Amino acid sequence: MVEAPSELCGHEALRERFAALDRWLWAQRPLWRPRPFSQLPVPWQGEHPELVAFLSGLDEGAIDGFEAGRGSGLPAVMQGWAEEAAAIAAVPQSPVDGALATRLRGEASLRRGIKGRKWEQVASFSAALGGLEAEGVLDWCGGKGHLGRTLGALGGRPVTVVELDGRLEQSARALAGRAGVALRFVEADVLKEDTRTHLERGALVVALHACGGLTNALIEGLEGRPAELALAPCCFHLQHRGGRGCVPLSSQARGALLPLDHATLRLATVEEVVASPKLRAARRRENAWRLGLDLLLRQASGRDDYSPLGSLPASALASPFAEFCQVVAASQQLELPSVWSASAAQHAGEERARQSRALSLVRGLFRRPIELWLVLDRALALAEQGYEVQVGTFCARRVTPRNLLIRGRRAG
Ligand SMILES: C[S@@+](CC[C@H](N)C(=O)[O-])C[C@H]1O[C@@H](n2cnc3c(N)ncnc32)[C@H](O)[C@@H]1O
Repeated sequence: MVEAPSELCGHEALRERFAALDRWLWAQRPLWRPRPFSQLPVPWQGEHPELVAFLSGLDEGAIDGFEAGRGSGLPAVMQGWAEEAAAIAAVPQSPVDGALATRLRGEASLRRGIKGRKWEQVASFSAALGGLEAEGVLDWCGGKGHLGRTLGALGGRPVTVVELDGRLEQSARALAGRAGVALRFVEADVLKEDTRTHLERGALVVALHACGGLTNALIEGLEGRPAELALAPCCFHLQHRGGRGCVPLSSQARGALLPLDHATLRLATVEEVVASPKLRAARRRENAWRLGLDLLLRQASGRDDYSPLGSLPASALASPFAEFCQVVAASQQLELPSVWSASAAQHAGEERARQSRALSLVRGLFRRPIELWLVLDRALALAEQGYEVQVGTFCARRVTPRNLLIRGRRAG
């Protein structure tokens, strides 16, 4: 059993947890690096045959239950990994300002123009920050500025929104006007432009779900300017400057063991749980069809290797399975077997997709620990720049699974 302190406050605590996570993830990599989707049988089959048999026997409903964290009766070995993962990735809830939370619930005007779940995120984030000390708020990649506007309204502070999409300016201004907030909208590409001039010394900078490189660009350009930061990062695999991919931000992570490749970054945040049932069904069908076609390609080539098909046109995915195979094979100059049965291949693909989803439950245990590793890298980068830093959750996972909040306050 891995012991991990639940407090994540201060440079030393962050360093210790990061090091523990790094060692554990590295040691367990045979369980989470290989993707059952493209690699069956899994490499750990020989070591854990009973677990493979258990998982392979789960039907779609049971897999859904385990994916949503509702399943029970896991074999002891997997239960052990699940407990280790939960312990090492345990994060305390950020303290909530109760009076502010009550005010947020009562003031219907604040939530105007914000959709349900986004409002819950904005309200929880704001309540976790408590009263504002900063002179102003900068909403980094702020969209229509929902979070910045809410904080500005609560604290009576001016707000700046830095955002790529200039079409959002009008709505951002109108919403701020109605809330009585002074708002400046800066249209800027934070991956290309020098945005440091917007980082004023007295400001609180917030970034709610500024994907991957968008949050990194902020951290890399700070130069210790803003007084306070509150960041809830997401989608670590996206939006990297100049397409360079994700690089560690802290010196500790630069010396770490965990490989920061695209597959690791994707595993951290790609979850099905929050997708709509329609989207989930479409993804399942696509996966089954890719695997059905893959089996045909293996048969035709005589090679037992997965053939990545890249992104596929929606029109191919909307056609019947036989046509899908023909269109994709022709467009990618791949050989189909001379004789094949569409219904048998479709069924085999569905079966393989179910099995790979079941075996991927093991990889899924490592999602949150990897996400926390990535969040701690960002938190450490702030600490290395002289900020006092703490990490906590700002809302329940049902509101958003990307619920980790990094708070930094310039020391001294
Ligand atoms: C996931 S949304 C989050 C928006 C807002 N923070 C919220 O929580 O509602 C990410 C935002 O980043 C903006 N964005 C994407 N690329 C950007 C870039 N290169 N520079 C500035 N903003 C960017 C998008 O237009 C979008 O509004």
